[in-house]
Amino acid sequence: MTATLVRFIGLVVTAAVVLGHAVVKVPTPRGAGAYYTQRCGKTFAEYLEKDKAGPIENGVEVAGSELKCNAFLCRGYQYEDNTATEYKPGQVVDFHVDLVAGHHPGYANVSVVDLATNTIIGAPLRSWDDYPNATATTPRSDIDFNVTIPTTLGTACSTGGKCAIQWYWYASKNKQTYESCVDFYV
Ligand SMILES: *[C@@H]1O[C@H](CO)[C@@H](O)[C@H](O)[C@H]1NC(C)=O
Ligand SMILES: *[C@@H]1O[C@H](CO)[C@@H](O)[C@H](O)[C@H]1NC(C)=O
Ligand SMILES: *[C@@H]1O[C@H](CO)[C@@H](O)[C@H](O)[C@H]1NC(C)=O
Repeated sequence: MTATLVRFIGLVVTAAVVLGHAVVKVPTPRGAGAYYTQRCGKTFAEYLEKDKAGPIENGVEVAGSELKCNAFLCRGYQYEDNTATEYKPGQVVDFHVDLVAGHHPGYANVSVVDLATNTIIGAPLRSWDDYPNATATTPRSDIDFNVTIPTTLGTACSTGGKCAIQWYWYASKNKQTYESCVDFYV
């Protein structure tokens, strides 16, 4: 086979495999910008921007050794390109996930993440053992849900850039990760 044909088949196979796609739409999640491109590298940034709901692994693969950021923290997006929203302890925050395609079973959770250490603060705010919910009916609690801002954060999230609410979906079978971060402070 010619190299072009091999590449073409590769593209078709990739397109067929990449069925799970999702991204948080509400609240507005952390997005791209100049720091993102600089720290993650142009190849990764441009690739992931082509499909904001696409899996992180695909970007990591095309970027190779050019990747300089932690792609698995907030999909590589950088706080400096974004702004944080103030929430009150105990505030209920509505989420909407745009589930573009969800044929890939896995698990998901929503957690407050300490951005400096990439660790979860406290217990997950929401978690799903099976995600997406294969039997879901409208309104769907796996894509339209709320989280309650913990009352126990103290000063851990006192300024923008210290914490984010990270929505995380791992499609286990396909080994694909989807993430969206909401920058906040309390
Ligand atoms: C939640 O997601 C994180 C990634 O942020 C993952 O490493 C962790 O295992 C998950 N936690 C639970 C309790 O499922
Ligand atoms: C999945 O969706 C069905 C139908 O809405 C619902 O009854 C069930 O509780 C959901 N499962 C989970 C784990 O939320
Ligand atoms: C948050 O979601 C729960 C269902 O998980 C619902 O019962 C409750 O009314 C919602 N709260 C608000 C303030 O929307």
